[in-house]
Amino acid sequence: MAKIVGILTTSHVPALGKAIHLNLQQDPYWKPFFDGFPAIREWLDQVRPDIVVSCYNDHGLNFFLDQQPTFAIGTAPEYVSEDEGWGIPTMPSFPGAEDLSWHIRDSLVRDDFDMVTCQEMLVDHAFTLPMALLWPEQKWPVKSVPVCVNTVLFPLPSARRCYRLGEAIGRAIAAFPEDAKVLVIGSGGLSHQLEGERAGFINKEFDLKFMDSMVNDPTWATQFSDVDLVEQTGNEGVELLNWLVARGTVPGAVRVVHSNFHIPISNTAAATMLFEPV
Ligand code: DHB
Ligand code: FE
Repeated sequence: MAKIVGILTTSHVPALGKAIHLNLQQDPYWKPFFDGFPAIREWLDQVRPDIVVSCYNDHGLNFFLDQQPTFAIGTAPEYVSEDEGWGIPTMPSFPGAEDLSWHIRDSLVRDDFDMVTCQEMLVDHAFTLPMALLWPEQKWPVKSVPVCVNTVLFPLPSARRCYRLGEAIGRAIAAFPEDAKVLVIGSGGLSHQLEGERAGFINKEFDLKFMDSMVNDPTWATQFSDVDLVEQTGNEGVELLNWLVARGTVPGAVRVVHSNFHIPISNTAAATMLFEPV
C-alpha cells in the first residue's frame, strides 16, 4: 500500500534558481534560507521516498490567464522544465509516477473535484526549485505527480476547498494498492507581494501564526477568503494555499522534523517546514 511518509512545505523564489546555479548557498544573503535544507536531506537519506506528490501553482509557463484551471493534475510520463523568463537554467526532466497520477486523478474526480488532466505539462520554478533543494545533484531518485492550484486568476479556490482537496488526495494515496513511500510537497508563500502599491509587503505575524497552525490547528487558515488572504499575506502570499493542500493529505497529528523562517529572500518571507505523520 502507498503511504505518506512526510510533508515538505517551502517557499519557491525564482532567484533561488540562480543562486543554486552560481553556488551561492554559503553567501551571507542566501545562507539563512539554504541552511534550512541539510537536516531535511538527512531525513530524506533515511526515509527514501519513492514518489513525490507536489502541490504548487504555475506562474504562466504551462497555464496562462487564457486557460487557467482551478485544479489540475499531471498524468505524464515526464515533466519538462522550461525557461520561464527569469533567466534560470532549466533542470533535467522529472519522471512521472503515471500509475499513481491516474489513480489520484480518478479518485479525485469521483470525490467531486473537477481536475483538469494533463498528459503533457511543463513545470516551472514552483515545482522545480523544491526538487533541486531536496536533491541538489538533480538526479531525481523519485517519480512525480504534479498537482496545480490556481493562485493567479481570481477568484481562487477557497482555503477550505484547498484543504479538502488535500484530504481527498490523502485518501487516494492511502487506497493506492502498490507499495510506495510518498512525500507530499506544498510549494509557495509565505507572505509576499510583487506588484502595485503594496509591492514588498510582508506580514511576519501572520506567517508565524500560519506556521504554528500547520502543526497545531491545520484548518485555522480555512476561515479566510481569497481576498482576506491577499490582505493578510499579499497578492502572491496566497500561494500558501498549496501548503493547505499538502497539510490536508495528513489531516491528523504531525511531528515537526524541521522548520526554518527567514525574511526576506528576494521579496518573500521564506519558510520551510518538514512534517511526519504521527
Ligand atoms: C518571488 C516570489 C515568488 O513566489 C515568485 O513566484 C516570483 C518571485 C520573489 O520574491 O521575487
Ligand atoms: Fe510564486
